[in-house]
Amino acid sequence: MTRLVAPPPSPTRAEVLAWLDTPAAERSGLYRRADDVRRRWCGEAVHLRGIVEFSNVCANDCLYCGIRRSNRAVRRYRISADEILEVARRMAGWGQMTIVLQAGEAPSEVGDRELGATIRRIKQETPLAVTVSVGNRPREVYAHWRECGMDRYLLRFETSDPALFARLHPDCTLADRLRCLEDLRDLGVEVGSGFMIGLPGETLDTLADNILLCRRLDLDMVGIGPFLPHPDTPLGGERNAWAKDPEMFFVALAALRLAHPRARIPATTAFDAAFPGRGRDLALQRGADVFMPNSTPAPRRRDYQLYPGKPCVDEEPGHCAECVVFRIRGLGRTLGLDLGGALRYPVGPPGNGGIS
Ligand code: 5AD
Ligand code: FES
Repeated sequence: MTRLVAPPPSPTRAEVLAWLDTPAAERSGLYRRADDVRRRWCGEAVHLRGIVEFSNVCANDCLYCGIRRSNRAVRRYRISADEILEVARRMAGWGQMTIVLQAGEAPSEVGDRELGATIRRIKQETPLAVTVSVGNRPREVYAHWRECGMDRYLLRFETSDPALFARLHPDCTLADRLRCLEDLRDLGVEVGSGFMIGLPGETLDTLADNILLCRRLDLDMVGIGPFLPHPDTPLGGERNAWAKDPEMFFVALAALRLAHPRARIPATTAFDAAFPGRGRDLALQRGADVFMPNSTPAPRRRDYQLYPGKPCVDEEPGHCAECVVFRIRGLGRTLGLDLGGALRYPVGPPGNGGIS
């Protein structure tokens, strides 16, 4: 019997603002609460999602992104289906039960069909869950990928402020993005979204609204990470809105966990770029329950830099796979060896008679 548990009510805006406004001296208490909530709702297991950045070709010109169309300094690549399959076949052995197929947003009939065929092959030839992250598409394309076996989709809304969104994205609106998320949910795909922390012009109010939007969208997964100005983009000369207080990145993460107890929350790579060597570990202790090791073949990693300071650009996938397991064990956590999909309400907290 599944014990039914009502979802905790969404916090009020005032509550979220109060968490975000926690004075520096009291932040360790906030982190502890977030860690407790994570333990209660997600357990001690950290699930790995190996990310394969299979193409950096992009038709969009988002002002913050290193692989934007206008950045001529980027050497463009696309990894073949065979090469993707080669990595995919090794991933379960590394404890990576999900493959995340990420690329720039480059819609094309041929490319979208090819991706469908790749998803189908991964589902036939491996036990992995398949997450796709390639940007906005019409519902029909998502529906096709779903038929091919796509389990999950990641598409960040980046900021909940429509005016700020418009300034940063010449190619789409916030409403378009939200429409995509709705289509995906409707098609039975597990949906992940999220935002960047500290976009220029962002305030504490924006941050609170971002967190509340995650809860309102009832996301299965929420990925957030610091905005890092990339020198070859129009925002290269800007600073992160929280540059004077980078601990705010973790405060935002902890507040997100308190607001969204059951969401899968990755310790994103950008935390390591902001806090080299320890950002992702700290994130796992302050609310996160998922780690996304880079499983892109080594020669391509340098050409997929959305932001500067990306770690592991010279490592082979097998190296990151081992390193990650050490990092997680070092934190006293275990590896989640099931598929680690969405934790839904109603569900009993792990170890309390519920299913997880
Ligand atoms: N700094 C931090 N994160 C970035 N992303 C893209 N560019 C940057 C940057 N300069 C994030 C976006 C995107 C995700 C794949 O990477 O949030 O959704
Ligand atoms: Fe890549 Fe540690 S995660 S080397």
